Amino acid sequence: MSLLRIRTYPEGILKKKAAAVKDIDGTLQRLIDDMNETMHSASGVGLAATQVGNSQALFVADVPSEGEKRLVIAVINPVIIESDGESSIEEGCLSLPGFRINVNRSARLVIKGYDRKGKELILEARELLATVIQHEMDHLGGVTLLDHASLLKREAYLKSLKKGDAAAGPKP
Ligand code: CO
Repeated sequence: MSLLRIRTYPEGILKKKAAAVKDIDGTLQRLIDDMNETMHSASGVGLAATQVGNSQALFVADVPSEGEKRLVIAVINPVIIESDGESSIEEGCLSLPGFRINVNRSARLVIKGYDRKGKELILEARELLATVIQHEMDHLGGVTLLDHASLLKREAYLKSLKKGDAAAGPKP
């Protein structure tokens, strides 16, 4: 396994829409393993392929759920088939070091996709995991937290990037 370079704003690939995965083969499985390693090494809770420079529709997530249990998932070609409720959790992004914002999301989701082995997967998610999934699926659509931010917040962040403040402490 190897660590991949996490793309950060304003790298263009973050705005690119991911294409559906056609083959779940060894190359893709290696990409998933590398993405997991990269996410863990950066103390992230989720990572979309877009963020490591690969425009294919898949993401990984590792979110504490129901107490101590952790759920590590890789979802290929994710589609939301059900969503309800409202939730707003403060989010950060490995591609936007230093930026944090509350985003209104659905509180509960059911998604469909394929797992690392190509098996169809249907997953129900709530709370933090539901938020992480929506955040990662945003990345696959070329959308980042900056697109959810008010103009003022976005401008303040861009200004801090110019000064180099954000380099101080990247958070998940
Ligand atoms: Co992100």
